[in-house]
Amino acid sequence: MSNPGTEARWWHGATLYQVYVRSFQDTNDDGYGDLNGVTARLDYLAWLGVDGIWLSPTMPSPDQDWGYDVSDYLGVHPELGTLADLDRLIAEAGQRGMRVLLDLVPNHTSSAHPWFVAAGDPASPYRDYYVWADPAPGGGPPNNWLAATGAAAWTLDQRSGQYYLHNFLPSQPDLNWWEPRVHEAFREILRFWFDRGVAGFRIDVAQGLYKDAELRDDPPEPGGDVVRSRFGLAQVYSANRPESHAVFRDWRKIAESYPSPRLLLGETWVGDLHALAAFHGHSDELQLTFNFPFIFAPFTAAALSAVVAETLADLPAGEASVWTASNHDISRFPTRWCGGDEGRARLALLVLATLPGTFVLYNGDEIAMTDVDVPAALVRDLMRAQTGARESRDRSRTPMPWDDSPTAGFTGEGARPWLPYGEHAVRNVAAQRADPASTLHLCRELIALRRAEFAGQLASYTQLDAPAGVWAYRTGRLTVVANFTGSPVSLAEAGGVAGEVLIRSDSAAGAGADQVGPWAGVIARSA
Ligand code: NOJ
Ligand code: CA
Repeated sequence: MSNPGTEARWWHGATLYQVYVRSFQDTNDDGYGDLNGVTARLDYLAWLGVDGIWLSPTMPSPDQDWGYDVSDYLGVHPELGTLADLDRLIAEAGQRGMRVLLDLVPNHTSSAHPWFVAAGDPASPYRDYYVWADPAPGGGPPNNWLAATGAAAWTLDQRSGQYYLHNFLPSQPDLNWWEPRVHEAFREILRFWFDRGVAGFRIDVAQGLYKDAELRDDPPEPGGDVVRSRFGLAQVYSANRPESHAVFRDWRKIAESYPSPRLLLGETWVGDLHALAAFHGHSDELQLTFNFPFIFAPFTAAALSAVVAETLADLPAGEASVWTASNHDISRFPTRWCGGDEGRARLALLVLATLPGTFVLYNGDEIAMTDVDVPAALVRDLMRAQTGARESRDRSRTPMPWDDSPTAGFTGEGARPWLPYGEHAVRNVAAQRADPASTLHLCRELIALRRAEFAGQLASYTQLDAPAGVWAYRTGRLTVVANFTGSPVSLAEAGGVAGEVLIRSDSAAGAGADQVGPWAGVIARSA
């Protein structure tokens, strides 16, 4: 970190790691992971080699949506710890060369937030912090907007006879970004955390902040694609408004006013790669953006390479893309992309770790953790439980399997975890750490190679000719051959690999040194 250029864009070529705090490590045996648990596992994360961690929501919340319903933006959820615990976590991570990002939720608050409680009074100065509207002329919600549950995005407030807007649960009222005091409140929130040493934020629902001033109906979107369509509507007016870009320009100035620039990583839930690139502005908005078209692309060489090529072509020069494939909202990639096949998960990790930009792992990805089938009676995700419309997100939120003990190393003996364990007896960190051929070791080697080759840089990327089903590319000094077919492929035919093979996701003994096996990848460095 001594090179100022590297410091300024420390996320270029870096690896970030998402910690779902409630499921990472419990230290007081209440069955919920906590901040001290993250601190206790920092040596593991340093061993893995990540440059930074993003903590899922840490602020006080009634937990209708597990922290994405914030009731105090300047505090720490008592169930997760204290402000002092968070300060210690940041300091201890820093001692190990890792930065800490928090999750910021600016689209909505909890209905328990003092602003919303006050706003219930139509005469309150806080009334305009939220979006209120009269019923439609014939009665009923003001327009056709839908919440993420599939129900109307509006709830009638008996006291005033007006509806308030909530793009998620009724207990998550949307903030009104047309109100200047909301901007001022968030500037203060940003500075509060940046001053405490927080390295940046993952920004929830970044595309959502402003809504159409006229509250026009969203148009139909029959496509069915989960990113483009919300239960058959395109969020043209209920989100994705151009005015939100000014918020990010404002925040970028704040982020860059610190000697070590703070990072803004958007949860940019958009289906269009031009719209995604637009969140980088002229390198004056978000520095990083999650790429949902990539996440939801089929696991084929053609589909993934096409999204990568278009993403890189659309991004303004000098901007980094984000490569990730799992998070707490979606099915884990070893299940979704790989059908539980570990060889394919290893291939996916090899590709994710060698693309230029920023690689983001979700806790468990490094051991190819799969989704857990959470029985209906144990589901804790209200967003899905209420509608049954889509599978519960709990499948990807279950405790981290640290070892094969009855509590998976997650909590104390006899304590009950908030969500059930998966197959920790067959897949866990301890067993993989003891096995040099494991996916965990592969992932660690990939991260180390990434740091050695790319740290602080945006590597070049050139796709190479390869047979159908094979994706070959040169990035920096590396040549990558990723075989998405069920047959072995000759390295000479795909990518023309000449240099030394550094890492392969299969075994050379099995595949042959001059081949890449079925559903496997090879990384070579040019001589
Ligand atoms: C995206 C978050 O990742 C998700 O968990 C949450 O329910 C919604 N935003 C609403 O905050
Ligand atoms: Ca706990």
